[in-house]
Amino acid sequence: MSQSDTIRQVAQRLRALTRVLALTGAGISAESGVPTFRGPDGLWRNYRATDLATPGAFARDPALVWEWYRWRRSKICDASPNPGHHVLARFEGVWPAFLLATQNVDGLHGRAGSRRLLELHGNIWRARCAAGCGQTVTEATRASRQRDAGAPPTVPVCACGALMRPDIVWFGEALDDTILAQTLDAAASCEALLVVGTSSVVYPAAALPGLAKRHGAIVVEINVEETPLTGAADYTLRGKSGELLPALEALL
Ligand code: OAD
Repeated sequence: MSQSDTIRQVAQRLRALTRVLALTGAGISAESGVPTFRGPDGLWRNYRATDLATPGAFARDPALVWEWYRWRRSKICDASPNPGHHVLARFEGVWPAFLLATQNVDGLHGRAGSRRLLELHGNIWRARCAAGCGQTVTEATRASRQRDAGAPPTVPVCACGALMRPDIVWFGEALDDTILAQTLDAAASCEALLVVGTSSVVYPAAALPGLAKRHGAIVVEINVEETPLTGAADYTLRGKSGELLPALEALL
């Protein structure tokens, strides 16, 4: 079957539904110029994300971890949502119970207008007290984001005296209980799950397609390349999400 036949078939099956869940990963933001984690542009000074996004790395060298996040912040700062983000925001008007779960911390879904949004791994523009006093700081405006991204690589300190850390779920850490419960609930009760731009290797997000399928949902993968999910997906659309999502939307 040609890809355009597959998109038509997917659109036809999705049209009649009400409960649709989308799960996104770094690939949805690639066309906005944000580096993915496992692609060739994911390396920073020879470090992999998995070397730096850990509590151990922060305990050993908080300045290095902050420097990496400031580099990521600088890449994200001038990025704008792309057509893929915008289509996912408009999907809230297509299906009465549309929900978007993202592994991304770049905040671009929110900036595209998504409101029914679960940020599974946190948000790069928020920092919180590493000692757990509850203090958080958010770079909420464009001006403050630009100031921060260009700031010298210092480690921010909380009013309580402890270090601040990025408010991001690191490898080896648990997701926020409430967000995880809402996501699992949505995966178990959706009629279709769209898996967009993720390598499908990081859990628990990578478990959502299996959960959805076991509860009878159809699973559609949109990715530029094959992933561990591809064989299990009901439909695979191979290409850029910034092109395929608008093509799908046009057929709904
Ligand atoms: P990855 O970098 O692992 O995967 C990105 C995926 O997007 C790959 O499968 C690419 O083929 C695909 N891709 C790239 N460009 C695309 C495009 N234009 N359209 C569609 N697909 C495209 O990123 P994630 O799967 O998001 O965790 O990684 C999961 C988690 O691991 C991240 O949230 C992060 C990371 O370490 C934390 O920071 C906690």
